[in-house]
Parts: sequence; C-alpha cells; structure tokens
Amino acid sequence: MTTIPAITLNNGVSMPAIGYGVFQVPDAETEQAVTKALAAGYRSIDTAAIYGNEAGVGRALAAADLPREDLFITSKVWIEDLGFEETLVAYDTSLAMLGLDYLDLYLIHWPAPEKGLYLDSWRALEQLLASGRVRAIGVSNFVPEQLQQILDLGGIVPAVNQVELHPALQQRDIQEFNTAHGILTEAWSPLAQGAVLGGQAVTDIAATHGRTPAQVILRWHLQQGRIIIPKSVTPARIAENLDIRGFVLTDSEMAALDALERDGRTGPHPAEFNG
Ligand SMILES: NC(=O)c1ccc[n+]([C@@H]2O[C@H](COP(=O)([O-])OP(=O)(O)OC[C@H]3O[C@@H](n4cnc5c(N)ncnc54)[C@H](OP(=O)(O)O)[C@@H]3O)[C@@H](O)[C@H]2O)c1
Repeated sequence: MTTIPAITLNNGVSMPAIGYGVFQVPDAETEQAVTKALAAGYRSIDTAAIYGNEAGVGRALAAADLPREDLFITSKVWIEDLGFEETLVAYDTSLAMLGLDYLDLYLIHWPAPEKGLYLDSWRALEQLLASGRVRAIGVSNFVPEQLQQILDLGGIVPAVNQVELHPALQQRDIQEFNTAHGILTEAWSPLAQGAVLGGQAVTDIAATHGRTPAQVILRWHLQQGRIIIPKSVTPARIAENLDIRGFVLTDSEMAALDALERDGRTGPHPAEFNG
C-alpha cells in the first residue's frame, strides 16, 4: 500500500497531502466509494454538509473500523448555516451524520460575502477549536481580502484555505497570501474535473515518465507543496491518483505545466457566489 506524505498545519496537526474528495458522489454510492478509497490507502476524506453524503462517509468509516487517529476527516459548514450559533449547530449535525465525535478539519465552505456572516462563523470555529472539539479549522474559497479580515480579528489563523486550483487556474495571488501567513493551500478540483488531462504538454510529460496525465497533474501539485483531494469513483483511478511518488517532474516540466494558466475557472467566483 502506498505511503501518503503528510503536511504539518500551522497548529502542528499533521494532514495527509493526498485525500479523497466525495463531491457529487450520491450518498447511496458513497459508502462503497469511500470503502474502496480506504482499501487503496487513503486516510483523509473531504466531504461537506451540502454534498449530502456525510452519512455515507460515516457508514464506510464505521465498516472499516480503522483507528480513529489514523483518519483525517474534513467537513464544511454550508452557506445557509453561516452565523455563530448556526455554525455550532451545523457542526453537531455533521458529526452526527458522520457518526464521529470530532472532525480533524472544519472549514467555512464559501464566504458568501452578501450575507456578511463569515466572521461570525469563524468565531464559532475558534470556539470549537478552543474547546477541543475539532483539531484544526480553516476556510474554503476565501480571497485575500476576506482572509485579511479573519487575521484582523487577532485570533486563530486559518490552517487551510481550500480553493479551486489546477494548471488552468493557479490562483497565484491566493497562494502567495496563504503562504505569507502560514495558511496551507488545499486544491479542490485538482484535475479541473478532467479538463486539464488532454493537453499536449501534459500528455507529453506523462509519456516521458510512463505515467498517466492525472498522475502528472497531481505530482505537479505535490511538488508545489499543496494538499490535493482528487475525486474518483473508478477503482483504477482511485489507486492511480494515490500512486504519484515514484517519479519527479523536472524544473522545465513544472514550468510547462505552470504555463497552462488560462483563468480556466470551473466553479463559481468566491467574490460573487452567495449560494
Ligand atoms: N470547497 C469547495 O468549494 C469544493 C468544490 C469542489 C470540489 N471540492 C472538493 O474537491 C474534490 C475534488 O474536486 P472535483 O471532484 O470537483 O474534481 P477533480 O478531483 O478535479 O476531478 C474529478 C473528475 O475527474 C475524474 N478523474 C479522477 N481521477 C481521474 C484519473 N486518474 N484519470 C481520469 N479522470 C479522472 C473523475 O471521474 P470518475 O469519478 O468517473 O472516475 C471525475 O469526473 C471534491 O470531491 C470535493 O471534495 C471542494
């Protein structure tokens, strides 16, 4: 089984650099998918209340019966639950759905700026952390201005900012801000949902190393120090996406992938999305 590299968050908690995402996996199929991922060696699972599959993740975790400390489970508070009390309730609901008594990482899913509630939610996450009910807290889809507002509160610095990131949308401003403040960048849609796998540069590099295009893209992320959470319900791909340590991309190959930036966003823009 592949050993998964770990990255240490700004509060000392260790997080697997490669996790398994379950966005768009129906709850009824999630138990089987997560069971396959755990069997392949994944220990970090990325879900969210809005995915509607926390219960399926929980069933797989219960069936696997792995030591809890070997797992790293992330969920996220949805936009409708932003607000201090609402976020505390949402956290308890997610725990109940997952059948867990703590999460390793809890994120604000989207800032939804028109609602004006993400700082209230952040204070709720700080309270959960202070009371030992979650091991690390962070955000998702936050731009630097919104992160700065959290930093200006003078409390906990987010451990993670999970954003859409792949060669076609590299979010360099966000990555630079994250790095400057000790916030780890976690890439969602690390494969751009498949949209970055067919280009000539990627397929050429893949051929050079005898690897697949997806492995090349995931390796590019890993070499740039990001956490990745690729999603697949296909057993061969689940294993393939974890098997990215036996080769190294050269500087010129990394540069060729860097050159694929084209503002190729697949999801909503965080500054404009309010649910
Ligand atoms: N925070 C947020 O707002 C946010 C938003 C979106 C996603 N996420 C998280 O990020 C995770 C990953 O993002 P994502 O699911 O949007 O996209 P992704 O991981 O970039 O791509 C998933 C797609 O690529 C295919 N695929 C996976 N591995 C492949 C491989 N080795 N070769 C060819 N195709 C492959 C999958 O197909 P099959 O499944 O059919 O194999 C699926 O269609 C999500 O599951 C979720 O946990 C977070």
